[in-house]
Amino acid sequence: MATKTAFLLLLSAQFLAGFSVTLPIYPSQTLPLNDLFNNQAATSEGTGSTADFDGAGGAYDGQSLPTGPWKYDGLTFDLPSAWGNGNDNVLADGQVLQLQDPTFAHELHFLYAGDGTGSPVLSVFTLNFADNSSYEVNLYAKNWWVWANVNRAAIMTPFHFETTGKNLNGTNIFQWSTSVPSESPLASITFPPQATSNRMHVFGLSLTPSINDTSGGPSLTVRRARFTTRWEDINGVRAQAVEVTLANMLPGLTLSPNTSIASRHTVELVGTGIQTISPGVVNRLVPADQARIDVMVTGSTANGSAVVQIRDASGNVVATSEEFPTSPLVENYTPNADSLTMHETPSWWNAAKYGIFIHWGVYSTPAWSPPNQYAEWYDWQIRQPPDSSNPTWVHHLNTYGKDVIYDDFIPDFTASKFNASAWVDLFDQAGAKYFVLVSKHHDGFALFDTGNTTNRNSVQLGPKRDLVAELLQTAKTEKPDLHRGTYYSLPEWFNPDFAKYGFSSWPGGLAHNAYNVSPELEPYTGRIDIDDYLEDLQLPQMVDLAVKYDIEIMWCDVGGPNKTLDFAATFYNHAMDQGRQVTINDRCGFLPDFDTPEYATFGSIQTAKWESSEGMDPFSYGLNTATNASQYKNGSTIVQTLVDIVSKNGNFLLDIGPTAEGEIIAPMMNNLLDAGSWLKYAGDCVYDTEYWFLGSQDPNPQANTEPARFTTTPTTFCIVAFSQPVDGKVTISKRLPVMDGDDIVLLRPDGPTTPLAWNIDQESGTLSIEVSESDVTAVEYAWAFEVRYQIG
Ligand SMILES: *[C@@H]1O[C@H](CO)[C@@H](O)[C@H](O)[C@H]1NC(C)=O
Ligand SMILES: *[C@@H]1O[C@H](CO)[C@@H](O)[C@H](O)[C@H]1NC(C)=O
Ligand SMILES: *[C@@H]1O[C@H](CO)[C@@H](O)[C@H](O)[C@H]1NC(C)=O
Ligand SMILES: *[C@@H]1O[C@H](CO)[C@@H](O)[C@H](O)[C@H]1NC(C)=O
Ligand SMILES: *[C@@H]1O[C@H](CO)[C@@H](O)[C@H](O)[C@H]1NC(C)=O
Ligand SMILES: *[C@@H]1O[C@H](CO)[C@@H](O)[C@H](O)[C@H]1NC(C)=O
Ligand SMILES: *[C@@H]1O[C@H](CO)[C@@H](O)[C@H](O)[C@H]1NC(C)=O
Ligand SMILES: *[C@@H]1O[C@H](CO)[C@@H](O)[C@H](O)[C@H]1NC(C)=O
Ligand SMILES: *[C@@H]1O[C@H](CO)[C@@H](O)[C@H](O)[C@H]1NC(C)=O
Ligand SMILES: *[C@@H]1O[C@H](CO)[C@@H](O)[C@H](O)[C@H]1NC(C)=O
Repeated sequence: MATKTAFLLLLSAQFLAGFSVTLPIYPSQTLPLNDLFNNQAATSEGTGSTADFDGAGGAYDGQSLPTGPWKYDGLTFDLPSAWGNGNDNVLADGQVLQLQDPTFAHELHFLYAGDGTGSPVLSVFTLNFADNSSYEVNLYAKNWWVWANVNRAAIMTPFHFETTGKNLNGTNIFQWSTSVPSESPLASITFPPQATSNRMHVFGLSLTPSINDTSGGPSLTVRRARFTTRWEDINGVRAQAVEVTLANMLPGLTLSPNTSIASRHTVELVGTGIQTISPGVVNRLVPADQARIDVMVTGSTANGSAVVQIRDASGNVVATSEEFPTSPLVENYTPNADSLTMHETPSWWNAAKYGIFIHWGVYSTPAWSPPNQYAEWYDWQIRQPPDSSNPTWVHHLNTYGKDVIYDDFIPDFTASKFNASAWVDLFDQAGAKYFVLVSKHHDGFALFDTGNTTNRNSVQLGPKRDLVAELLQTAKTEKPDLHRGTYYSLPEWFNPDFAKYGFSSWPGGLAHNAYNVSPELEPYTGRIDIDDYLEDLQLPQMVDLAVKYDIEIMWCDVGGPNKTLDFAATFYNHAMDQGRQVTINDRCGFLPDFDTPEYATFGSIQTAKWESSEGMDPFSYGLNTATNASQYKNGSTIVQTLVDIVSKNGNFLLDIGPTAEGEIIAPMMNNLLDAGSWLKYAGDCVYDTEYWFLGSQDPNPQANTEPARFTTTPTTFCIVAFSQPVDGKVTISKRLPVMDGDDIVLLRPDGPTTPLAWNIDQESGTLSIEVSESDVTAVEYAWAFEVRYQIG
C-alpha cells in the first residue's frame, strides 16, 4: 500500500513538472453479489431444470455464457465458474448492497438483463453516500431477447429455453455504466423494487474507485482507446478515428485548475506503423470527469498495439498510456456477422443530432385515425376488428362507404403539389441535418421505381412519379449538406408473397374485405409474379435504394425475415467506394448501428448511440386530420425534446405527415420553423456536441423549474435552461467544469450576449449566472448559456 501511494505521488509530481509518466490502467473492482443472489437464470441441461429467469420457466443456455472472472471493455466482472448450478443473479427486489468500505467512486458498471420481451423499461437504483445524500441512477432494462429483432449486447447467445423447447431469438446480457457523484464516499446501493413485468436482473456489478491523489495535478487514466470504423478524408488520406476516452480519477470535491487539465493538450497514438494524421485536443478535464476525443490515424493493423500519448501546450509529452489493441479501418465489409457487427454510426450522424422523418404514402389520402393509433396503419386498423366497435371501420363506412377498398385510395394519392425544393428548403430552415423519407410502408406501396420486383409503386400508379428520386436528387444538388435516408418496411401486411414469412401483425396474404363485400379477398394492386419475397423483392428493393438512390441512412422497420447481411455489406461497400459513410438502424433484423425508441425516450445517458422518433402529432406519424393542429408539438416542445435527447447521447428524428397532394400543412411547417429559428442562434449547444459524463441535467433544480440540460464541446460547456430564468439569475446546483477566467454568454437571436457575471459557491459548488430581463425575454423556448473556456 505504501509503495502504491508513493508511486502515485511521483506520477503527479512529474505530470506537473512536464515529465512523461506512464498512466495507470483504468481500474475496476467487482462488488460481490453472491449474498444477494435469489434467482437462477441459466441452465446447463435445457428445459426441466431449476432455472427460471423470467417467471415463466425460461432460461439462458449456460453453455453459451462466458464464465468468470470475465473481462469486457477493460472492466472485470464476477460470473459463475460454471453456469447451471444454482442462483446466478439478483432479481431486483429493493435489496441493499452495503459496500464493505465506503469508497469515493468514479464509475459504476452493471451487467444486467430485463426478463420481458418489449422495449427497455426504467429501473431506478439509488446510490447512498456516507454524508447521507443519495443519487438516483436510471438504468433502462433492455430485455434479454427482443422479438423480430437483434440487440447489440455485451453477451450474445443464439437462443434461450422456454418450457416448450428452444426459442431461437438471440438472447443477451447487457452492460451499462454510469458516472457516480464523488463528493462523498459511496456507502451502499439500493436495488429497484420488483416490477410485475420486465423485471430487472443483475448478474454483476463492478466499481471504478476514484483515486485520491493529493499531490497536485489531475490523476489521469485512459478509460479506453477504441479503433473505430469511422474515418475522415484528410488531404486525400483516409484517416481512421480512434476514440480515446480520458478520465480524471480525482474525486469531484477537489475541482481547481491545479487538479484539472485546464490548458490545450493534444492526444496522439503511437505504435508500429501507426501515424497520427490529426491529433485529438482536450482543453478541459476536471476531477471525476471523462472526455472522449477523436484521434485521426493511419496504419493500424489487426494484431498490433498502440499507446496513447498526451502532450501539453508546449508540445512536451506529459503522459503515456498502457498499450491498447489496434484494429485496422474496415474498407471492405463481407456479408457475415463478424465483419458487419464492427460497423458503427458515422461521425456526421453523431454530429447531426436532428432529422426530419416523413410518413407519406397512400395512407395520406384517408389521413385518419382515432387519437391513440397511427394514421399510417389505416389499412390494418380498418379490420381490427371489422365491426362497429372499431372507430376506423366506422369512419371509413361513414366517409367512403363499404364499396371503397384501400387500394381505391391509390389514384387520390396524387402528389400534385409536391415540390421537392420547397421541402428541402424547409428542412434546412428547420435546422435539420438529415431526413428519412418513407420509401415503402407496411401497405407495400413504394414511392420509388421498384423495377421488376413489383409495380405497386408511385412510378406506375398514383402520381406516376419517382418521389424518392425527386426528393433525394433535389437534396443532393440543392442542399448537399443535408443527409438523405429512407425508411423501409421489411414485411408487408397483405402481400401474398409474404404469407410464407408472415408473423404477428404482418401475416402476409391478401386482405379480407372488412365489409363482407365481394370479392372477399382484396386485390394487391401492382403485384407481379415473383418466386420469393426476400430474394426477389425485399433484398433487390433495399439494394436499389442503396446503390441507385445513394441513400445514407437505411431506416428499416419491424425486422423479422431478412437478407440484411447481404444488404448491409453491399450498402457499406458501395458507400465506401464513393467515399461516403452510411448507417442502418436496429430494425433490419440484424445488428444495428443505433437503437430507435418510438414515441419514447431514455431518461439517462445511453453510451450506445440511439435516436428517438416521434410525430409532430401527439400520436401519429402519417397525417391525421382528426387531430387538432393546436395539439402538434410547438417550437418549445421540439427544442426541449431535442436538447433533452442530445444531452443523453441521442438524435431526434421528428416526423411530419404531408398531404396526399404533397403539401406540408402550415401548422407543421410553422412549428418546424419556430424550432429552426432557435437552432439558428443556439445550435452551437446542439450540433456536434457530446454528452457530459457527469450527468445530462441539474440533479437538484430550483423549485418549480424544469432541470437544465448539459452538453459539451472541446472548447465550451452548455447549460440549456428549460424554464425562463427569474429574478435575473440562473443557478445550477452541481459542480460544473467552470473555472475562473471562463466567459459565460447567453445565445440570443442577435448574437451572444457580452460575458455575464457569474460565481461559484466554493462550499456547495453551486453556479449562479446573472442575466438581465431584456436578455431573458429576447429568447424563446430554451435559454442556452455557453461557457467558453479560457484556454491557457
Ligand atoms: C447520517 O444519518 C445517520 C442516521 O440518521 C446519522 O447517524 C449520521 O450522523 C448521519 N451522517 C451524516 C454525515 O450526516
Ligand atoms: C421468436 O419468438 C417468437 C415469439 O415467441 C416466436 O414466435 C418465434 O418463433 C421466435 N423466432 C425464432 C427464430 O425462434
Ligand atoms: C484524500 O486524502 C487526503 C490525505 O490523505 C485526505 O485528507 C482527504 O480527506 C482525502 N479526500 C478524499 C476526497 O478522499
Ligand atoms: C495551485 O497551485 C499553485 C502553485 O503550486 C498554488 O499557489 C495554488 O494555491 C494552487 N491553487 C489551488 C486552488 O490549489
Ligand atoms: C499481423 O497482421 C498482418 C496483417 O494485418 C500480417 O501481415 C502479419 O504477419 C501479422 N503479424 C503477426 C505477428 O501475426
Ligand atoms: C418550388 O419551391 C421552390 C422553393 O421554395 C420555389 O422557388 C419554386 O418556385 C417552387 N416551384 C413551383 C413549381 O412551385
Ligand atoms: C429482375 O431483373 C434482375 C436484373 O435484370 C434479374 O437478375 C432478376 O432475376 C429479375 N427478377 C425477376 C423476379 O424477374
Ligand atoms: C434476419 O435474417 C437472418 C439470416 O437469415 C436470420 O438469422 C435472422 O434471424 C433474421 N432476423 C430476424 C429478426 O428474423
Ligand atoms: C382546436 O383547438 C383550438 C385551441 O385549443 C380550439 O380553439 C379549436 O376550437 C379546436 N378546433 C377543433 C376543430 O376542435
Ligand atoms: C407548447 O406546448 C406545450 C406542451 O403542449 C405547452 O405546455 C406550451 O404552453 C406550448 N407553448 C406555447 C408557446 O404555446
